[in-house]
Amino acid sequence: MEKSLRLRAFAKINLGLKLLGRRPDGYHELRTIYQIIALHDQLELSLSRAGEGICFECDNPEIPSGRENLVYRACDLWRRTTGFRGGVRARLEKVIPAGSGLGGASSDAAATLEGLERLSGEKLLPRERFSLAAQLGSDVPLFLLGGRVLGCGRGEEVYPLPDLPRRDCLIVFPGFSISTAQAYQEADLRLTTQAVPRSIRDVGAWPQFPLLNWGPAENDFEQVVFARWPELARLKRLLIRAGAEMASLTGSGSAVYSVFESARQLLHASKLIPKGWLRFRSRTLSRADYWRLLCGR
Ligand code: C5P
Repeated sequence: MEKSLRLRAFAKINLGLKLLGRRPDGYHELRTIYQIIALHDQLELSLSRAGEGICFECDNPEIPSGRENLVYRACDLWRRTTGFRGGVRARLEKVIPAGSGLGGASSDAAATLEGLERLSGEKLLPRERFSLAAQLGSDVPLFLLGGRVLGCGRGEEVYPLPDLPRRDCLIVFPGFSISTAQAYQEADLRLTTQAVPRSIRDVGAWPQFPLLNWGPAENDFEQVVFARWPELARLKRLLIRAGAEMASLTGSGSAVYSVFESARQLLHASKLIPKGWLRFRSRTLSRADYWRLLCGR
């Protein structure tokens, strides 16, 4: 018998991101605050004990459908970890733009792990679940917490933060993607220091981290990304002038988000966005909302 489940794979934004240096393993030590937003992909998973292998389909032909896809890799890793011998089927409806810094692929992978665990009824230990997620990518574990999350290490070391009051957000995707690996390489040219061990307490000392409330945030990737794409720097300025409480590049880009206290101001700002750029109106999700809305259509 086949069992199916539909899940929403939500996007994230980074409320500040600080790069501390390159580590001996080639990754970069960072500190960031992740915030989940309501924008989401839709994932349908099926498990069949009688079936075999992994079948993955995506409604967007530009998204790779084989091993390179994180949903496929999550299915494969989960099957090898649990010893499940039956078939896994995954269908993905893509909404979150790829290469935008909104964490779409990572969220799809986390939703896959969560969904397969629910469908199979075989619970992993939290430690195992987080370790599988971290093997899939630095930005995957945050989606096992939801809400507002502090990210340390290479981004995979995550701590839940208390939710802030809900806000409307406007996300702008300029129509091109940015390679994360390449953005890190370019950031390297500006980073003069090797990563040094830091205490989690350091986060509170940086003014560009809005730890306790909504407020201006800074993302170290902005220096490299804005130098190459000045139109994104102009977009950030435009959003702030339009009344955003905060506006920033998310991850290594290319999307820029803004957070608004008032829906009226958001609507006004949305009309100022250059033609041809994709805009998404969304809202922040608390941890409770995230888990309540995860399953379903
Ligand atoms: O972990 P993930 O596979 O998402 O990372 C993609 C690439 O981004 C890595 O191969 C690495 O080049 C870069 N990266 C990094 N430091 C991080 C996270 C990612 O250098 N903290």
